[in-house]
Amino acid sequence: MAFDIEMIKAVYSKFPSRIETARKAVGRPLSLTEKILYSHLSEGAASKAYERGVSYVDFRPDRVAMQDATAQMALLQFMQAGRDQVAVPSTVHCDHLIQAEVGAIADLDKAKDKNREVYDFLSSVSNKYGIGFWKPGAGIIHQVVLENYAFPGGLMIGTDSHTPNAGGLGMIAIGVGGADACDVMAGLPWELKFPKLIGVRLTGKLSGWTSAKDVILKVAGILTVKGGTGAIVEYFGEGARSLSATGKGTICNMGAEIGATTSVFGYDEKSEAYLRGTERSEIADLANEIKEHLMGDPEVYAQPEKYFDQVIDINLSELEPHINGPFTPDLAWPLSKFAAAVRENGWPAKLEVGLIGSCTNSSYEDISRAASLAKQAVDKKLIAKSEYTITPGSELVRFTVDRDGFLDIFEQMGGVVLANACGPCIGQWARHGADKQEKNSIITSFNRNFAKRADGNPNTHAFVASPEIVTALAIAGDLTFNPMTDSLINEDGESVKLEGPSGLELPSLGFEVRDAGYQAPATEGSQIQVIVDPKSERLQLLAPFMPWEGIDLKGLKLLIKAKGKCTTDHISMAGPWLRFRGHLDNISNNMLIGAVNAFTDQTNKVKNQLTGEYGEVPAVQRQYKQHGIGSIVVGDENYGEGSSREHAAMEPRFLGVRAILVKSFARIHETNLKKQGMLALTFANPSDYDLIKEDDSIDIVGLDSFAPGKPLSMNFFHSDGSMDKIIVNHTYNEGQIEWFKAGSALNLSKEQV
Ligand code: F3S
Repeated sequence: MAFDIEMIKAVYSKFPSRIETARKAVGRPLSLTEKILYSHLSEGAASKAYERGVSYVDFRPDRVAMQDATAQMALLQFMQAGRDQVAVPSTVHCDHLIQAEVGAIADLDKAKDKNREVYDFLSSVSNKYGIGFWKPGAGIIHQVVLENYAFPGGLMIGTDSHTPNAGGLGMIAIGVGGADACDVMAGLPWELKFPKLIGVRLTGKLSGWTSAKDVILKVAGILTVKGGTGAIVEYFGEGARSLSATGKGTICNMGAEIGATTSVFGYDEKSEAYLRGTERSEIADLANEIKEHLMGDPEVYAQPEKYFDQVIDINLSELEPHINGPFTPDLAWPLSKFAAAVRENGWPAKLEVGLIGSCTNSSYEDISRAASLAKQAVDKKLIAKSEYTITPGSELVRFTVDRDGFLDIFEQMGGVVLANACGPCIGQWARHGADKQEKNSIITSFNRNFAKRADGNPNTHAFVASPEIVTALAIAGDLTFNPMTDSLINEDGESVKLEGPSGLELPSLGFEVRDAGYQAPATEGSQIQVIVDPKSERLQLLAPFMPWEGIDLKGLKLLIKAKGKCTTDHISMAGPWLRFRGHLDNISNNMLIGAVNAFTDQTNKVKNQLTGEYGEVPAVQRQYKQHGIGSIVVGDENYGEGSSREHAAMEPRFLGVRAILVKSFARIHETNLKKQGMLALTFANPSDYDLIKEDDSIDIVGLDSFAPGKPLSMNFFHSDGSMDKIIVNHTYNEGQIEWFKAGSALNLSKEQV
C-alpha cells in the first residue's frame, strides 16, 4: 500500500522553481491553488499566465484513484488503450457495491459472493496493469486515499465526485469520469478549464457542538449547489489552521455539493500531525522543507479580495451547528431555526434513522465525538429512540475505534455497525419497509440527500448534519430536538441534558490495523489473463463508438424534455443499477428513468414519435436506434449535477442520442459528454427551452464548420408544420471537437498511443 515517495520527491524538487516561474508569468503573488496547478502543467514550467474560467490547460496529475462502481468502465476503457502498465500510481477501491442490511460481517460476506465476478475482474485488471487494489471491506476510497496517498501540494484525479476529500491534506484532488482516468493512466495529459478561485477566510475557533461539517453546511447555504461551479475553493486564515486534517477533509469532500471543481487547505501543523499519525513522517519531513510553497503567498491571504474571484468570511467562534435539507444539500438551517422549519414545512418530526460515517465523516475524530454522546446516553439511561447506524470509512479507522471501545459504546446505545463501505450513502441500503414509500425522516452525516438516494423512497426526507448532531437527534428520535437547549426524559423518568461532544483528532495509542485489505499488483503483468465472460450480465467488453458522419445531423427526434433538477442520479440511477456498471448495454436500461418529462410531469414516460404511444425512456430510445433515428435530450439548469459517473454520458451515446441541449451543465457531466463523442449544447437564449414541443423533429446545423466559440443552430420542426430556429452555444475547444469527430476521446487517444 506504500505511497510512492520517489514520485513525491520528484514533485517537490520542481516545486520552488516552477512556482517562481509561474509568479513571474502571472506577475503577482499566487494562491495555493495556483501554485499546485502551475507546478503540474503538462508543458513543464509555465510559459504564460492562464485565464481563470477561460483557458483550457493540460495538466499531469500525480495519481489516479477509482472506486469499484466507476472503475469497471474506466478499466474496460483502459484495456482498449493499448498500454502494458499504468503511467501514474493508481488504485482501485471496492466500496460501492456492498449493500447494508444486517451488519458488517454478514453484509460483506454477501457482497463478496454477489459481486465475485466484478471483484475478480477488478483484482485481475489491477494486478495486470500495476494498479493497487483495495479489497471489499478495506474502506471507502476517499478515507483510504487520505490515510495513505494524499500529500500536500499533489494533484490527483479520482473517478468519484467526492475525490476533493484529499484537499484536507493540501492536495488538489478532482472528481472526473472514467474516460479522464483512462487518459491519465495511459500517460496522456489531462485537460481542465483553469478554474476560478473562491477564497474562504476562516477566523475564530470551533467549540462545543459545532464541528468542521458545519463550515461546509454553512458554505453550501451561501453558495448553493451551483455556486462553486468552475471554481476551486481555497480555505485559509487562523481558523483553517485550527481544524484537524480530517475535519478539513470533510469540508473539502462536501465542496462537491456546491459544484466546486475541488477545495483545498494549505499545509500546516495539523497536516503534519496527520501525516505522522498515519505513518508518513517521510512525507511530513519533505513537506516541511518546502513549507512556504505549500500554502498561498502571504500577500494573497492579506488582501484576498484582490486575488480571489469571490471571498467568503466565516467566524468559527460564531458558527452554529447546521442541518441541511431535505432533498438538497444547500437548504441550510442553523440548529436554532431548524425545529421551527420542521413544523412550518410539515416535515415528519419523528426521526426514523440516524446514520453516521461515510467518506465525509468517518475519521477517528468524528467517531470519537459521536461516541462521547453515545456514552452519555448510556450513562444517563437514555435509549436511542431512532435506529442508528455507523459506517466506518476504513479498516484502519474501524480497527482503531473498535480497539478504543467506541463501537462497543454505539452497540450499547442500540447502534448497528455496518461494513467499511458506502452502503446507505449510495442507495445500497436494504432498508426494511422502504418499499411502502411512506413519508418519513432520516438524518445522516453523509454529503448528499437527493430524493431516493439513500433508500429509493421518494418520500424519505433526508437531512445532512455532523455526526454529533445526527447522534444527538437519533437519541431523541425527534427532528425538533435541539441538544444545545433541550432536555430528554430517561428510563427513570428524569429530565437529563446532553453535554457538548468531546473527542480526539488522532488516537492517543496511534492507529492500528491487522489486515488493511490491500493487494499489491504484480511487478510484471504480461502473463496475467483478464477474463470477461461474454455471457456475463455485469461485465461487457466495449466496442468503439462510431465516428461523426461528417454532415449535419438531420431528422432527430426529441426523446425527452426534462424539467427541473436532472442530476446524474436521474440520468443513470445508482442503487439497484450499480450491479450493471460494467455492462453498458444492460445499464442503459436505466437511462433517464428518473428525469421528469416536462410535458406530462411524469418520470420514465415519454411519447414515442414512431407510434404516438407513451413508453419508458430507454425502450423508446431503443426503438429509435433500431430504426437508425438519432434523438436529442433537452434539459434545464445545472444538468448532470451530482456524480462523475460517465455512464450518464455513455448510455445516451450507446443508445443513439446525439445531443444534449440544456440551459446549463454541471462541469464533470459536460466533459463526460464531450469525451464520449456527444454534442453538449446550451441555449443561447434560455427561454428557447419553452419553444420545444413534444413531437418535434430536429436538425443540428453548422457542424461542417464546428469551431471553438462559434455557435451552432438547431431547427425544431413542430407537428403543426411550424418551425423554430434557435442558436445554441458550446464550450468545445479544438481538441474536443476532434473527440467529437473521432466518435470519442478514446478513439482519438488510441491513435496517439
Ligand atoms: Fe461512497 Fe457516499 Fe462517499 S457513495 S464515496 S460514501 S459520497
